[in-house]
Amino acid sequence: MLILGLESSCDETGIALYDLGAMRLLAHAVHSQVAMHEAYGGVVPELASRDHIRRIIPLAREVFGRAGCDVSDLGLVAYTEGPGLAGALLVGASFAHALALALRVPALGIHHLEGHLLSPLLSARPAGFPFVALLVSGGHTQLMRVDAVGRYLLLGETQDDAAGEAFDKTAKLLGLGYPGGPALSQVALRGVSGRYRLPRPMMDSGDLDFSFSGLKTAVLTLVRGREPSEEFTADVARAFEDAVVDVLVAKCAQAMDATGLARLVVAGGVGANRSLRAALDARGKRCGFEVFYPEPELCTDNGAMIAFAAALRVNAGLAAPRRNAFTVRPRWELGEASGIAEPP
Ligand code: KG4
Ligand code: ZN
Repeated sequence: MLILGLESSCDETGIALYDLGAMRLLAHAVHSQVAMHEAYGGVVPELASRDHIRRIIPLAREVFGRAGCDVSDLGLVAYTEGPGLAGALLVGASFAHALALALRVPALGIHHLEGHLLSPLLSARPAGFPFVALLVSGGHTQLMRVDAVGRYLLLGETQDDAAGEAFDKTAKLLGLGYPGGPALSQVALRGVSGRYRLPRPMMDSGDLDFSFSGLKTAVLTLVRGREPSEEFTADVARAFEDAVVDVLVAKCAQAMDATGLARLVVAGGVGANRSLRAALDARGKRCGFEVFYPEPELCTDNGAMIAFAAALRVNAGLAAPRRNAFTVRPRWELGEASGIAEPP
């Protein structure tokens, strides 16, 4: 049976075809809206929705073409039901339900985070269950324990800004480009560690939660009234990256300790950060855990993770589509999705 996976929760249109019988990804494609939102310094929801509308059908055609399949081969249409931007989610949901209705096959809403959590199993070097996942992107900063399909435990999450959001906002303060993470980490390479010291928010809070909004304010205080120079900007960028990396690594190590697990998977755009990777690898070596970095195309938002999560749900008997379930859930706790456990 073929599964079509659709992702449209934010600023990426992602489409994939997954063969359930062969347990194989046949083809997938992603269209990123980053260039369109760049001029505004962040995602503009209305523009995001309109762009999903423009892209979704041509992108679907492209994926069917690459896989050498036809819509009549589909047995299930899976789409991101939430969380995310309401208008953007509605585009994927409308397309999924219309196609499913026309083909008389079921449509299945998937929780976006479940897609992220299971995508490491799609990697060329898959991390087996159980593992701890660090999701660090523009929209998420979470530590989860992943035991099996449908068995996820939220260990900790950000209380305010996501890590990628903090990179983006700080990069904006420093006059660097959007998205800020890659630009800021590039500039930080030329900075000197320790020339400026920024706080490590919640590093010793005794739990696995994060807070990043104070860091941005600390940077603002540092740069206010200063004549910007290349050297100063590089040193501040270095100080910011050092602080974020220290906190992320410390919390990951605490999570590995608390769970007693031996595998850590890092997903999301911030996982591309080289300083973070080097520091996590070093800590893993010292503390006896292995770190997995799935391919970037699987870490950022994509349709493959949605099709794959649907496939694993079908196999686990957790895919009963609800009747008349044309819904999107812009705010959707992982624990509310059926078959998914969270702490009491
Ligand atoms: O997972 P992702 O591609 O998309 C969504 O959030 O939807 O993550 C994008 C985020 C942005 O905030 C970007 O600034 C950050 O990941 N990012 C990085 C790096 N590359 C991307 N942050 C730090 N260092 C990087 N090298
Ligand atoms: Zn995401």
